[in-house]
Amino acid sequence: MSNQQLTTDKKLFIVFEGIDSSGKTTQAKLLKKHFLATEQQAVISPEPSNGIIGNLIRQALKQRIVFNRDPKLFDEQMAYLFAADRHDHLYNDIDGVFKLIANNYHVISTRYYFSSLAYNCETVEKFEFVKRLNNRFPNPDLTIYLQIPIEVSLLRLQERSVQEVYETKAKLTKVSEQYQQIFADYDGLILNLDGTQDPQQIHQQIINCLQTIVTKNK
Ligand code: TMP
Repeated sequence: MSNQQLTTDKKLFIVFEGIDSSGKTTQAKLLKKHFLATEQQAVISPEPSNGIIGNLIRQALKQRIVFNRDPKLFDEQMAYLFAADRHDHLYNDIDGVFKLIANNYHVISTRYYFSSLAYNCETVEKFEFVKRLNNRFPNPDLTIYLQIPIEVSLLRLQERSVQEVYETKAKLTKVSEQYQQIFADYDGLILNLDGTQDPQQIHQQIINCLQTIVTKNK
């Protein structure tokens, strides 16, 4: 289980992806706990980030601020904001991902540029635009995609007190389809998991995968 020895000198940048309520945060917490239990430093660093642009984005997702009343422009505005936030998240020299890795921390991010490709564009043309906006961001060491049916996501979202703009059946259906496409074309390291399984079972599959990476790196 999670007290298996898994240590590596290389600090990893690990990303969780999936539609809303797919269990990303739960798994990120279990993974952080695992690293700490094996005496390795680890932090959870989400996107939208905890920085100033990330906070602005959270207000926009809740519609507490509106930049433009034309809904057709919304995705594009969000794509620009998320790209700016991502740059800050990766490269700021206080608690940016690379700063943390240099300081000997594994960094676990819930969401990364895959979310921009899945959420912030709905046509092929817009997809290419979002891809260009993000094409200089490096791939993580490992991406874990937690797949759940839309119905499960909607059921879990009912428990939240505030609904965000992207949390609708139509949007999540589209997002789910886009994720399939993105990861089918992705050439980085990806672990696809059934997010409806018991959280401990999912966690164990992640640890097994990391074990393989660590062994290869040795
Ligand atoms: P969260 O539910 O993981 O906190 O994410 C908040 C929302 O942000 C979620 O609906 C997905 C959305 N999002 C984008 O639209 N584009 C992005 O690039 C990222 C990172 C998140």
